[in-house]
Amino acid sequence: MKFFIDTGDVGEIREAYAMGLVDGVTTNPSLIAKSGRKYRDVVVDICEIVNGPISAEVLTTSYDEMMAEARDWHKVHKNIVVKLPLIPEGLKAVKTCAEEGIRTNVTLCFSPVQALLAAKAGASYISPFIGRLDDVGETGMELIAKIVTIYNNYNFETEVLVASVRNPVHVVDAAMLGADICTIPFSVMLQLSKHPLTDTGLKKFVEDAKKIPR
Ligand code: E4P
Repeated sequence: MKFFIDTGDVGEIREAYAMGLVDGVTTNPSLIAKSGRKYRDVVVDICEIVNGPISAEVLTTSYDEMMAEARDWHKVHKNIVVKLPLIPEGLKAVKTCAEEGIRTNVTLCFSPVQALLAAKAGASYISPFIGRLDDVGETGMELIAKIVTIYNNYNFETEVLVASVRNPVHVVDAAMLGADICTIPFSVMLQLSKHPLTDTGLKKFVEDAKKIPR
């Protein structure tokens, strides 16, 4: 399973990249707003660090405006994937982007049939938001299972990019289901390496290492 990092913080991307945990990056308007920087500046910086798919989301919602943004992003860097919302206008833009060779990540997916539509329109990636489904009392991971089954049934090439990941269990469950990618916040990436037995075991090794004659 590929790991993307879900952030607009270039410092976090550098740290995670150094640990070999970054195959790509996803951003969204909320993450970029937190950075206090211009969207384009952040994405250009990211493209210099990571040689993989970098999702940049459109800031408009009409077909014409989204296509203008998509074509602009496509000119900025070859690794940029245009993130489009799962609405009828967004699906139209996904189809045109596919025809023009612009890769897309369809965002804000909350149902299996929405994922089916995105694949039919020619999306490169589908982003089901599992944490937000858990937040409203549904089981986000059930959505991933259904999408993986549907895409396998029909050999869709759209990759399943598990989004809105909130904890290590989400990552393990996504991997068990065979999802293509998890996009993970930096804080969760750090949690992934943690185990209390690793910490106590290392403490003992460090203590015993001092007893070894040198
Ligand atoms: C990624 O593509 C999404 O924008 C992101 O994972 C949303 O996560 P959130 O639900 O924690 O905001």
